[in-house]
Amino acid sequence: MSEQEIFMPDPAYLLQVRHLKQYFPVSSGFMKNTKLKAVDDVSFDIRQGETLGLVGESGCGKTTVGRTLLYLYKPTAGEVWFKGRQIGNKASLQEYRRRAQMVFQDPYSSLNPRMTVADIVAEPLDVHHLCAGKTERENRIRELMSLVGLNAEHATRYAHEFSGGQRQRIGIARALASDPEFIVCDEPVSALDVSIQAQVINMLEDLQAQLKLTYLFIAHDISVVKHISNRIAVMYLGHMMELAGANELTRHPEHPYTVSLMSSVPIPDPKESRKQKRIVLEGDVPSPLNMPSGCPFRTRCSRASAQCAEVCPDMREISSGHFVACHNI
Ligand SMILES: Nc1ncnc2c1ncn2[C@@H]1O[C@H](COP(=O)(O)OP(=O)(O)OP(=O)(O)O)[C@@H](O)[C@H]1O
Ligand SMILES: [Mg+2]
Repeated sequence: MSEQEIFMPDPAYLLQVRHLKQYFPVSSGFMKNTKLKAVDDVSFDIRQGETLGLVGESGCGKTTVGRTLLYLYKPTAGEVWFKGRQIGNKASLQEYRRRAQMVFQDPYSSLNPRMTVADIVAEPLDVHHLCAGKTERENRIRELMSLVGLNAEHATRYAHEFSGGQRQRIGIARALASDPEFIVCDEPVSALDVSIQAQVINMLEDLQAQLKLTYLFIAHDISVVKHISNRIAVMYLGHMMELAGANELTRHPEHPYTVSLMSSVPIPDPKESRKQKRIVLEGDVPSPLNMPSGCPFRTRCSRASAQCAEVCPDMREISSGHFVACHNI
């Protein structure tokens, strides 16, 4: 879809994002008055009940996509449609903020250590006036704590008394408090010990089935989202490079960037692993303040042609449900 076309929402999708942009003003230094294009023209859809994985290297704009589509940051441009309704005016935002929540990347900085678990979990209940009285509020807090495997007796303790895994459970309970339908899980396990990462991921999967949730699941690493995502989207420097079913994307990556990401995912079978050829990209990721012309990946791409320096490729469907932004595929 070009930016000029009028978008018609499709009721098959819970969330539809069109041409989302988030440009941050640079307020100091010699780049003053330029704009950092953290997210630049990103479009995608998420079906009811599915998990869309969003992967890419640090700084490529994953968190900014999540925060902007939730309207925690006002988009510089673009449209967000939730259940067939465009988000933007006050009435739509009020309902959307209740039904669309976020689990944050770092449970150490995202929870106020001086607040009790009860007050953290009840924040959305209070903001959206969801409990009629004190008893209802207390019951709901207990219910939410047991939903995420926390002992409800600990509701009066402070966040700093809990381990990383427990803190992330508190963050998940808070996200669930307002009965959301959609949750952005922003690298919910990357700050946790490897030994408890699987527990938290399994719990998120169980909660999804139990509460019929839809997820945008953000991760650095394809191997983290491969098993839990129905489809996976790959970002590079604020742009979307490829989007396909999780199996399709991991078995038949097409974009040269995705191919390089997949080449570094370890294969458990030693025989297959020996055949694996690791593709190490040359150079560094360019600064988002000084983006290459045309395709953002071209400076590191072995297939780059003259056209790539001139025109930024749009996402194109190369087979059913498999989209790639590349001139040379
Ligand atoms: N509030 C902000 N103000 C200015 N620049 C920002 C802001 N938030 C993010 N950025 C910049 O936008 C770009 C994208 O950042 P973002 O945090 O979205 O990346 P990310 O993919 O989530 O990275 P990570 O994997 O490290 O979490 C980066 O260059 C970052 O420095
Ligand atoms: Mg991030």
